[in-house]
Amino acid sequence: MLSSNLRSLLWLLSLNGAVIAQEDVISSDDFFYGHSDPVYPTPELTEAGPWAAAVAKARNLVGQLSIEEKVNLTGGVTSSTGCSGFVPGIERVGFPGLCLADAGQGVRNTDYVHSWPSGIHVGASWNKDLTRQRAEFLGHEARTKGVNVLLGPCIGPIGRVVEGGRNWEGFSIDPYLSGGLVYETVSGVQSAGVITSTKHFIAQEQETHRLQTSSGALVESVSSNVDDKTIHELYLWPFAEAVRAGTGNIMCSFNRLNNSYACQNSKGLNGLLKGELGFQGWVVSDWGAQMSGVASALAGLDVAMPSGDGKWGGNLTLAVNNGSVPESQLDNMATRILASWFQMKQDQPDYPAPGFGMPADLAAPHEVVDARNPKARVTLFDGAAEGHVLVKNVNGALPLESAKMKLISMFGYSAKAPNRNNQELKKDGEFFTAWSMGTSSANNTELNKAFFGDLNLSTSAIAPNGTLVSGGGSGATAQNLISAPYDALVAQAYEDGTALFWDFESGSPLVNPTSDACIVVGNAWAAEGYDRPALRDDFTDGLINNVADQCANTIVVFHNAGVRLVDTFVDHPNVTAIIFAHLPGQESGKALISLLYGKTNPSGRLPYTVARNESDYGSLEKPDKTLAPDMYQAFPQSNFTEGVFIDYRHFDAQNITPRYEFGFGLSYTTFQYSNLAVSKTGTAVGPYPTGPVVEGGHADLWEIIANVTAQVSNVGDRDGKEVAQLYVGIPGEGVPVKQLRGFNKPSIKAGETVCITFGLTRRDLSVWDVDAQKWLLQEGTYSISVGRSSRDLPLIGTLDI
Ligand SMILES: *[C@@H]1O[C@H](CO)[C@@H](O)[C@H](O)[C@H]1NC(C)=O
Ligand SMILES: *[C@@H]1O[C@H](CO)[C@@H](O)[C@H](O)[C@H]1NC(C)=O
Ligand SMILES: *[C@@H]1O[C@H](CO)[C@@H](O)[C@H](O)[C@H]1NC(C)=O
Ligand SMILES: *[C@@H]1O[C@H](CO)[C@@H](O)[C@H](O)[C@H]1NC(C)=O
Ligand SMILES: *[C@@H]1O[C@H](CO)[C@@H](O)[C@H](O)[C@H]1NC(C)=O
Ligand SMILES: *[C@@H]1O[C@H](CO)[C@@H](O)[C@H](O)[C@H]1NC(C)=O
Ligand SMILES: *[C@@H]1O[C@H](CO)[C@@H](O)[C@H](O)[C@H]1NC(C)=O
Ligand SMILES: *[C@@H]1O[C@H](CO)[C@@H](O)[C@H](O)[C@H]1NC(C)=O
Ligand SMILES: *[C@@H]1O[C@H](CO)[C@@H](O)[C@H](O)[C@H]1NC(C)=O
Ligand SMILES: *[C@@H]1O[C@H](CO)[C@@H](O)[C@H](O)[C@H]1NC(C)=O
Ligand SMILES: *[C@@H]1O[C@H](CO)[C@@H](O)[C@H](O)[C@H]1NC(C)=O
Repeated sequence: MLSSNLRSLLWLLSLNGAVIAQEDVISSDDFFYGHSDPVYPTPELTEAGPWAAAVAKARNLVGQLSIEEKVNLTGGVTSSTGCSGFVPGIERVGFPGLCLADAGQGVRNTDYVHSWPSGIHVGASWNKDLTRQRAEFLGHEARTKGVNVLLGPCIGPIGRVVEGGRNWEGFSIDPYLSGGLVYETVSGVQSAGVITSTKHFIAQEQETHRLQTSSGALVESVSSNVDDKTIHELYLWPFAEAVRAGTGNIMCSFNRLNNSYACQNSKGLNGLLKGELGFQGWVVSDWGAQMSGVASALAGLDVAMPSGDGKWGGNLTLAVNNGSVPESQLDNMATRILASWFQMKQDQPDYPAPGFGMPADLAAPHEVVDARNPKARVTLFDGAAEGHVLVKNVNGALPLESAKMKLISMFGYSAKAPNRNNQELKKDGEFFTAWSMGTSSANNTELNKAFFGDLNLSTSAIAPNGTLVSGGGSGATAQNLISAPYDALVAQAYEDGTALFWDFESGSPLVNPTSDACIVVGNAWAAEGYDRPALRDDFTDGLINNVADQCANTIVVFHNAGVRLVDTFVDHPNVTAIIFAHLPGQESGKALISLLYGKTNPSGRLPYTVARNESDYGSLEKPDKTLAPDMYQAFPQSNFTEGVFIDYRHFDAQNITPRYEFGFGLSYTTFQYSNLAVSKTGTAVGPYPTGPVVEGGHADLWEIIANVTAQVSNVGDRDGKEVAQLYVGIPGEGVPVKQLRGFNKPSIKAGETVCITFGLTRRDLSVWDVDAQKWLLQEGTYSISVGRSSRDLPLIGTLDI
């Protein structure tokens, strides 16, 4: 007795000043049952609308397949290609299988492809047309390589956790901006006949605890606990746009959603995605994210990657034969897979064989399959240029004038190309090589450890050994060429007769005081698998201050894979310009030099808020981390109690002044706004949508209820592009003061004025009604503001509904 009392005393563990007893530690998943509503069965495909013919063909084909053949479609197999995943073919009926390959910014880990700007960079461009062009070229590259399913775009995480390791893969923390750009991306990639795998569904907002870990005690993946209103108004919003654009595939995520794994969460997959959004395609698990057999099949998962063996495979056949999974459900799964194949016309003879241009080993002899379209170059360059955001420019620092540049000094590790841009053999303990995962400039040992969930590792905030054109992990691009800032500066200096000094190593270089400009190029590293340790780093801040102490014209550039704070140097009188260069893809240096020298006018705008200090982000700066001793030590929890109040919605609600607000960015010219007009279009404005559910939701959610027009004038002396932004204040309590509901990027010549129109849809003005389970358009007065950023809105009006 005594010893057991002593034992239970010893089990009393201290936690944040509180005390928890061993018997309070939750040890069974039963504790969480009922946290997510059951939604069964999986909705049938609709043989109507744009998918009608493809669904009919798929049904017909599925009707000819045996149970084993259908089961085989639901799980990945290893292939002789370099594809990330492979759905096996069924030769008997002429189905060749499907090659699934990474990712959203270019085909990864292969040769003869382009490295495109990353999601965050595309977000910073705020340019729908450019986004569409990028997607078309990207789709073409994937198709040429025999890729059937491109594993992107990424719109989840949306960026709730500011230090999130994968935020850079997505476009923006704002659902409307992200939604607008994902619509163009899905449309563009699929126009080439390649299925997009829009990912990750849903609420995978942190990398910390993303995987179920079994080293030592079993710890489940983090549960994102999200209420119904928040998931609709924030996290699901861009997915609705992807489905509306016809995405053929969705990837479910690693995390749990209300404590039920996302890849077996019936409310998420059967309910929200295949029901409410009318999704016609198939759901693939993230690699290793399938956690159950019968349960995931019934909940709406269609394909398990990288393999169906174990949970499905022979066991799915057994489950169908013994009635645990109805054969109609297996038919539903198989039909969805084949319907998307027909829908994208991949059944046509001109579609390359799966994995055709994706050699498993680039160092072995292989055929050249060059996917690079020379016409892509303009889009690559424009994309790189338009994602740069100029946030400070004083003393006439920029643009630089060639004739005045007698001497430029360049500093910082992110200015030069990494020493290696080449495939390498795996070193001991490596699962991934550096080039394949975009870590040529970063610490590849760190990525290899942290990728699989080592929570003890202290990781680096920067990639110290070279420039960054993408982040790390499965979203990395395959660099087949890099124009680094230094290379492009050398070319410019050569033309101008400018002398150059440089130091890419020292944190406290000596500076020649006669330098006409000192360019300091740092970065902020982020990769899949682990969240960032910080929003700034001492080495780079020290470098910038050291240079600025000695150089009156210090221009700071960051290749930032997420938010990067600047308050440690922003007020230094010698820091004359700051550029967030994000992750520009291969044209990085060329674009930067063109901007610095004024051949291109900066037009990027921040797709997130830069705070003055970490604490301004509140509890969302860092991911939720649960370490023993904790009641939840086996079931880490992340409670999304802030609702929709992330980023600017949070800063507005808490009345916190940011350093640089969402939507902000400078130009070399000046734009003025005038003549706001708000007019109703006469469309019916009953409280709820009444239209049929099509891809994306009720059709009438996208009907335009009001048009807003404004005039934008370029009153400066340079041509330029302006990102005109519209924000709506929806009436009611607990609603953000304003939310982005329109953006438009006209090119305006010096001295000219253009008229811009924003169409406001029913959905743009609605709130999610939890009781009705519908979008509700309320009666009342809506504030309408138009201007240059979320905090610079010169035009203000109202709309009465
Ligand atoms: C998660 O739980 C919240 C709160 O009970 C509920 O509003 C929401 O609908 C649930 N979502 C899912 C996907 O189960
Ligand atoms: C299913 O796949 C397995 C493993 O790839 C293969 O051996 C088997 O022949 C396939 N079954 C049918 C019916 O095609
Ligand atoms: C079926 O499931 C059992 C139990 O999890 C596992 O041991 C077995 O390998 C699975 N069989 C197949 C064919 O995947
Ligand atoms: C049917 O088979 C599946 C897969 O082997 C198994 O998990 C399940 O328990 C079986 N159900 C019955 C009722 O035998
Ligand atoms: C950077 O390069 C140096 C010199 O080659 C090397 O010693 C160091 O390990 C590299 N750093 C990282 C993080 O890989
Ligand atoms: C790279 O990361 C590993 C693992 O954290 C660490 O041991 C090593 O010191 C790092 N290398 C450099 C050069 O920072
Ligand atoms: C992290 O450190 C703790 C305590 O030292 C240890 O129990 C745990 O196994 C470590 N985890 C990993 C993944 O190394
Ligand atoms: C600014 O740079 C000049 C060198 O051009 C230096 O003399 C001066 O001290 C610097 N100012 C500050 C505040 O460091
Ligand atoms: C800045 O944020 C850090 C980290 O949250 C906090 O420790 C510090 O007190 C904050 N400083 C100010 C001036 O608010
Ligand atoms: C999350 O919410 C649950 C249920 O309300 C609560 O028990 C838990 O303590 C919360 N976790 C954190 C980290 O706030
Ligand atoms: C609203 O604007 C769109 C173009 O953006 C236009 O097609 C439509 O006619 C306008 N409707 C009204 C009623 O002004």
